[in-house]
Amino acid sequence: MSSLTQSPAWLALAQHQHEIKTQHLRELFATDPDRFSRFTLHAGPLMLDYSKNRITEQTLSLLLDLAAQARLPENINRLLNGDKVNVTEHRAALHTALRNRSGQPVMLDGADVMPGVRRVLQQMREFSDAVRQGRWLGYTGRPITDVVNIGIGGSDLGPAMVTAALPADCRPLALHFVSNVDGAHLCQTLKLLDPETTLFIIASKTFTTQETLLNARSARAWFLQRAEHHDHVARHFVALSTNREEVLRFGIDPAQMFEFWDWVGGRYSLWSAIGLSIALGIGMDAFEALLQGAFEMDEHFRNSPLERNMPVILGLLDVWYINFFGAQTRAILPYDQGLNSFISYIQQLSMESNGKHVTRAGHAVDYATGAIIWGSSGTNGQHAYYQLLHQGTTLVPADFLAPMESRAPLGNHHLVLLSNFLAQTEALMRGKTEAEARRELERAGMKGEALEHLLPHKCFEGNRPSNAILFQKLDAHTLGALIALYEHRTFVQSVIWDINAFDQWGVELGKQLAQGILTELSDAAAPGTHDASTTGLIRHLRFHRN
Ligand code: F6P
Repeated sequence: MSSLTQSPAWLALAQHQHEIKTQHLRELFATDPDRFSRFTLHAGPLMLDYSKNRITEQTLSLLLDLAAQARLPENINRLLNGDKVNVTEHRAALHTALRNRSGQPVMLDGADVMPGVRRVLQQMREFSDAVRQGRWLGYTGRPITDVVNIGIGGSDLGPAMVTAALPADCRPLALHFVSNVDGAHLCQTLKLLDPETTLFIIASKTFTTQETLLNARSARAWFLQRAEHHDHVARHFVALSTNREEVLRFGIDPAQMFEFWDWVGGRYSLWSAIGLSIALGIGMDAFEALLQGAFEMDEHFRNSPLERNMPVILGLLDVWYINFFGAQTRAILPYDQGLNSFISYIQQLSMESNGKHVTRAGHAVDYATGAIIWGSSGTNGQHAYYQLLHQGTTLVPADFLAPMESRAPLGNHHLVLLSNFLAQTEALMRGKTEAEARRELERAGMKGEALEHLLPHKCFEGNRPSNAILFQKLDAHTLGALIALYEHRTFVQSVIWDINAFDQWGVELGKQLAQGILTELSDAAAPGTHDASTTGLIRHLRFHRN
């Protein structure tokens, strides 16, 4: 047994869960008229209603004891002050420095990182302005019309999500994102493009990622088929990376490189040079508004007492459900079409950060860690999988997000959207009792055996927890705050679980094996020692591909 699961705060929560697990949210609301105001928080542009959670004041107080036991305030300071919180890679996780708008230095190993951050932001502004204003010309003197971001994981999901969420009314540039090594992704994109007016952004922190480099080489070959001369590459290829040598080796002049640093984790990198496609898409002013929104959330995280701290409360609620109710997943359900890609983004952020099986010191955990993140924008999910949320046997805590104002007002669409948003959270919480269902069926004229037969199917247990996050309108400032909220919430979980949220060794094994298998797929003589299934599949593929 680990010291965490034997600790006083943990044991007290386990005992408390035992006591309140049969208590229904309906009763909690009925007995406390102030529940909504008691369990509502504001941070920057965001409002969080967490009253529809299976908690009481005592739950919160016990969760806060757990946070104190894990020395959460000290750990928040360590993160924000540039301590090497990524213990397996001996690195800081200073993504907050990238959006530090305070004018204060951020020290790392005795040096202020802010001059470097500001230099790259200025470089991004100059470049994105020049491209957007048609001053940056392609090799035949025509302005750029299309930008292709080639990257994967954190070098793709963040920029793709932000630019999908914040479409500008009249963009001077069309943005495309190519991530998959499936050649179809690149081919389908290039089919639409003219090399004379296309700019490629090769986005890779390490500049060694197999998929990105292969896509980048194929894109360059496509470009050179038309442009013919290598000198022209300079007008059409830029790199976003921490790895100057590899960028050079690829053939991109370091003058066309936008630098960032090893203390920026891939899934935390959209605030860095990796955000160049965002700046190109929505303009540098809007990119800086995104940074500002995130900065305000960082300040809230740094300065608010734990009991009024939005990322802390959300992170603790996650722990409550994962570790004390056995929840294995969390749904993210934004009632804003612009946030459709937000789910995949948070999936990487949360699952790559906290999908861990050992503590920071390397001891196996005996408690659950990161949950599976999934979802889609409302109302679509209602007609697909909400059935399981309402009547299934798995507890799925959910985040419901909605703007109070639509960016695309159209008749009463937004009111219909909001009414669904509210109805779903209420239905999940209240459910429908047998008495209510019976009354309803009787009113509909049903009786006798037919009624008794249908009755159990019409009952809803309810008591299913959700958070509601409201904001005025989805704009850059709000989105920045929202992303930072989820980043810090993820960190809070990791502190309670004593795991490293900033490494990702789990992705390595598959990468290693793929290297060997790549040779075996094309060369029957290549040695390989696999299980019978993998060997059989390799042979089958080799034979049928031939
Ligand atoms: O393989 C996982 C990962 O390292 C992610 O953490 C990262 O976001 C992605 O690959 C892309 O890495 P890079 O930016 O170095 O190409």
